[in-house]
Amino acid sequence: MKFMTMHKTIEDPGSELVVAFAYEGKFSANSHLKELDHWLDGYISNLFELERFTGKANKTEEIFPNNGIPAAKVLIVGLGKKADMSADMIREYGGMIGRSLADLKANSCTVYLPDVKASVVKSTEIGQAITEGIMLGAYTMDEYKSEPEEKILPESITLSPEQKSAVNGVDKGRAVGEVSAWAQNTVRDLVSHPAIHLTPTRFAQYAEQFAADYKFKCTILSKPEIKKLKMGCLLAVNAGSEQPPKFMILEYKGPKAKARKVCLVGKGITFDSGGYSLKGAAGMVDMKGDMAGAACVLAAVTAAARLKLPIHVYGLIPSTENLVSGKGYKPGDIITSYNGKTIEVTNTDAEGRLVLADALGYADTLEPDALIDIATLTGACQIALGYTSAGYFCNDDRLSDKLQKAAGTSSERIWRMPLWNDYKKYIESQLADIKNSAGRIGSFCTSAAFLSHFVGNNKWAHIDIAGMDVDVKGGSYIKKGSSGFGARLLLEFLRNW
Ligand code: BES
Ligand code: MN
Ligand code: ZN
Repeated sequence: MKFMTMHKTIEDPGSELVVAFAYEGKFSANSHLKELDHWLDGYISNLFELERFTGKANKTEEIFPNNGIPAAKVLIVGLGKKADMSADMIREYGGMIGRSLADLKANSCTVYLPDVKASVVKSTEIGQAITEGIMLGAYTMDEYKSEPEEKILPESITLSPEQKSAVNGVDKGRAVGEVSAWAQNTVRDLVSHPAIHLTPTRFAQYAEQFAADYKFKCTILSKPEIKKLKMGCLLAVNAGSEQPPKFMILEYKGPKAKARKVCLVGKGITFDSGGYSLKGAAGMVDMKGDMAGAACVLAAVTAAARLKLPIHVYGLIPSTENLVSGKGYKPGDIITSYNGKTIEVTNTDAEGRLVLADALGYADTLEPDALIDIATLTGACQIALGYTSAGYFCNDDRLSDKLQKAAGTSSERIWRMPLWNDYKKYIESQLADIKNSAGRIGSFCTSAAFLSHFVGNNKWAHIDIAGMDVDVKGGSYIKKGSSGFGARLLLEFLRNW
């Protein structure tokens, strides 16, 4: 699918498939549809009259006119009430288009965009949101099907704004949208790959490939180097696994990059059995996705490089499996993290915070101006916020505001949780400096209190995306399955940095 932006009239779409939108309510309220209706001899107005299609959100109507008009296929997408218009609604409009594309099997497509006041949604945002929606909606993962369905997607998609003056803005957004949706779909791929395929070694190969393709630095530390650096936590979690650990260091420095550095850290557990604090079967089945945070970091850094953003960003990914074996680490073990703090392991299933401890300690040595980690860290986050929002903790209000702004534009929600010192008391240890788990009470907040021991004096945010890596309901631009949540959020943050 190659996207472009061009002003097209309804009489001359230049594509096999024409897509137009309808606001909910009266047909006459949709000035845009009138011309199309005229073309189709009143077919659409009749649908409204009969209340077969009235522009309700998420409803579509496919029409295959045979009266010789210049498009063989027409898709009309309901947008719901006009008053609700937002960038995310346009993303949803795109999602509906993307979902229908496989079915419509058109080789080219022209999308007529809604004419929205710039004060409501800017033309750049429209271009970005529609492109994202289409690419996200059209996403499928069929690598593991022995007989995948033949996928016929349009070679070219033309975005046509109603006003000629909007072409430039829409096209700028289109360019960003192609990369941000790519980032999210890449996370969906990586999360979908089963642990038998996506080992830490294979994960590191993806990182090296992206770095080579899009020209940023990528250093992969293997077990001997990890030992040399004394990353005792990553090594302890890895002890029960046959697969060697990897510590990935990504660095992208754009042209005209400002001196201020961002460091992103992602939890890269390619499978989490819980270790000796073994999970039950029901809690283990989705744990191939325990590297979703790491995937977001890899995708966001790669996207920043693809967009040639004028920023300096690091991506750190500690990656290992958390398994059970005679060599595995055990509850009660005391280990030493990269920054020298000792940790009593009270629960081997609280492994994410351990590998993050080493990575955050390492991040501190890079002297970043903002440090952000993202992780599928706690079941408690999932219990508290459901599949509706990620949770985050932040020790700096300005950084927090920037994250909230990115959450707003990406429509990837995050909800702030407290970093009170009280929670540090929960994880005091008799024998070591701290322990890695204090049990169920306050466990969402104690996980962040634990991480705070490793971030030095940095401006830091911790984003917990547990449960957000899979979408159980399926929305308009995200179907059921791995969601890729977090990649667009991070990219928006980097674009504004
Ligand atoms: N990877 C899990 C958290 C998780 C749970 C992610 C559900 C996605 C969906 C994490 O490593 C974990 O096991 N956390 C424990 C911590 C506890 C032992 C303190 C948890 O939340 O139960
Ligand atoms: Mn765990
Ligand atoms: Zn985990």
